[in-house]
Amino acid sequence: MSEEHLDLVIRGVAIYDGGGAEPSVGDVAIRGVRIAEVGAVARKGSREIEGRGLALAPGFIDVHSHDDFAVFTSPEMDFKVMQGVTTDVVGNCGLGVAPGAVGRAMFQGWTGAAQVPQWDDYAGYLEAFDREPASLNVAVLAGHGTLRAAAMGNECRPPAPHELDAMRRWLGDALDAGAVGLSTGLIYQPGCHANTEEIIELARELATRGGLYASHMRDEGAGLLDSIRETIRIGEEGGAPVQISHHKASGAENWGKVRESLALIEAARARGVDVTADQYPYTSGSTSLIAVVQNDALGEGRGGMGKVLPEGVLFASMPKHPEREGRRLKAMCDEWNVSGKEAAERIVNEEGVGAVVVVETMHEDDVRAVLRHPTTMIGSDGIAIGSRPHPRLYGTFPRVLGRYAREERLFSMAEGIRRMTSMAAEKFRLEDRGWIRPGYFADLVLFDPNKIADVGSYDSPRQYPCGIVSVIVNGRAVMSDGKHTGARPGRALRRG
Ligand code: ZN
Ligand code: CU
Repeated sequence: MSEEHLDLVIRGVAIYDGGGAEPSVGDVAIRGVRIAEVGAVARKGSREIEGRGLALAPGFIDVHSHDDFAVFTSPEMDFKVMQGVTTDVVGNCGLGVAPGAVGRAMFQGWTGAAQVPQWDDYAGYLEAFDREPASLNVAVLAGHGTLRAAAMGNECRPPAPHELDAMRRWLGDALDAGAVGLSTGLIYQPGCHANTEEIIELARELATRGGLYASHMRDEGAGLLDSIRETIRIGEEGGAPVQISHHKASGAENWGKVRESLALIEAARARGVDVTADQYPYTSGSTSLIAVVQNDALGEGRGGMGKVLPEGVLFASMPKHPEREGRRLKAMCDEWNVSGKEAAERIVNEEGVGAVVVVETMHEDDVRAVLRHPTTMIGSDGIAIGSRPHPRLYGTFPRVLGRYAREERLFSMAEGIRRMTSMAAEKFRLEDRGWIRPGYFADLVLFDPNKIADVGSYDSPRQYPCGIVSVIVNGRAVMSDGKHTGARPGRALRRG
């Protein structure tokens, strides 16, 4: 046993180790950035926390975030830290930060002229984060949409050989720099112009250098099952592990299809394909209004979202008309005396991609079926903009544990925690994270298992959850007794 001092000992706490086993009461000691001892800790720590009646889990890993810029523009990342998230995986849905100029232009369509450091490539992004860390850790996916935009603009055709080579080279550089994989957004421009073969070519790069393939699939509505097949085929032929982003059936006419999509995942796994999914625990999604329009969701619903009704579209962020935030598209239809489609087009013309909406698209039974399934981990898909962001930005993780584990008993608290810790760390290859074990990084959440719950609503989303007591990132408290400490001990995580 080491004679070195202990910085912090949390005593008498119910320890959920992250692996899904029922908790055992004991002590957890931290020295520096790592966990030093777990069990009965004899020596005293420089600081001690009485954990009786509380639970301790590994820090939650948000495998699906869009905080690529937010980690610089709001480095305290309160909306994530206060719900127990200690690591964000950014770069989802094909939207990445490099090549730098293109990534910046794409993100600033959402955020306006945000103050962020300069970077050219993924190595530069990760280094910039290390120089100006946030309160939580960040891991990054390369975004196919951004690579494609840089190589060939918004062209609707297969890439020429030199254009594919450019994408492949940038992706290779990203993976060498420590990116955890490649994401696509095949429902969005320019990603939607890519055929399956293009993505398979890029997935081969993942097979060579390591890294997973995460996809916002081409169609989450009528074509859901074909999209699942396409996504699995890309992983299978390219040789890369697969992550299906925000697994759902979108549009009332498609509800129930998740039974078959889950069966397709099971069948692929049975033949040895490493395919899993993530999900946010809500029946509404959120995206740019322009994507709703481009997918014909307010018309016939022929795109990848199914049909959406004007009363089901809530304005989250309208940079040029903030007074509209919190209103519904239906109100604009009535005011202007036009159809939902026309009203949406008018708003998109004014706002561009900056118009972000919350959209009612899912059925609660489907949400539960996906969440209950053992292949589903947790990703918020939160977008940190506007006055009415989707409440998932603040509440995803406490909602899974409070509403779905404790109240509805979809699974045990231990299993819910596993989905947001060890399962995520293993899939995204985040080394020495996701478990409470000696030698692992001290990313920890201390919470009250009887109280943990999300608080925000669609009308009032910017509210911290309840029941979280303290959050530790790399051995330092970022939230203590319910308050953010201001500490920014996050690290850029490179694929282990
Ligand atoms: Zn997405
Ligand atoms: Cu997303």
